[in-house]
Amino acid sequence: MVSRACTRLKSLYSFVSMRILNTGRLNLRTWEASDFPLARSLWADPDVMNFLGGPLSDDKVLEKMQSEMACAEEHGVQYWPVFENQTNDFVGCCGLRPWAYTPPAGHETGFALVKAKWGKGYASEIAGAVVKHAFEALQLPMLRAGHHPEHLNSKKILLKLGFQLVDEVFYKPTGLMHPTYQLKNFSS
Ligand SMILES: CC(C)(COP(=O)(O)OP(=O)(O)OC[C@H]1O[C@@H](n2cnc3c(N)ncnc32)[C@H](O)[C@@H]1OP(=O)(O)O)[C@@H](O)C(=O)NCCC(=O)NCCS
Repeated sequence: MVSRACTRLKSLYSFVSMRILNTGRLNLRTWEASDFPLARSLWADPDVMNFLGGPLSDDKVLEKMQSEMACAEEHGVQYWPVFENQTNDFVGCCGLRPWAYTPPAGHETGFALVKAKWGKGYASEIAGAVVKHAFEALQLPMLRAGHHPEHLNSKKILLKLGFQLVDEVFYKPTGLMHPTYQLKNFSS
């Protein structure tokens, strides 16, 4: 089941352009090698990384960006960079990746926005579009998501999207158990 879904993801990925999806205000595309300054503006910011284990050094930012690019090559998904339609400003990242913590295998979703773009409803908008993409275009049977135990904004977004708390898993970057949620695709 999962391997069939992975094959489908890879074959879909090889046919789509760099653009992944578009909402009213935002669009997603794949990471490119020249995006390092954008990645740095996100993952090296102490406020953005407050609940994600702390800001990354330049080497670690590059490593993370390259691992997103490798994830797309291997699995057809990544935490795609997000841009504003109107200004083309970089907004952050949101997407999908294989779930690596507990069986059964599957995918998780997540989001992080640059500070200048908080408080505009962008996280809810883009995360909702990614969930729709996962369930309708990619036909994934289920998604997981998690957050730092004290990060109430993330919790609020996940609950708004319909995710339900099911478990907690150890998240190495923070050294804490993170609440874990799932959302089933009832149309798959
Ligand atoms: C978590 C994070 C993505 C939330 O971003 P955000 O912009 O605050 O999230 P939302 O999209 O829910 O928008 C929040 C508020 O924008 C406001 N807003 C302004 N204009 C809006 C619009 N046009 N539509 C909807 N909401 C709007 C709303 O008041 C909304 O709050 P509400 O849901 O209480 O009504 C952001 O804080 C972040 O990137 N943090 C750092 C990275 C991180 O920790 N990521 C989470 C990992 S699990």
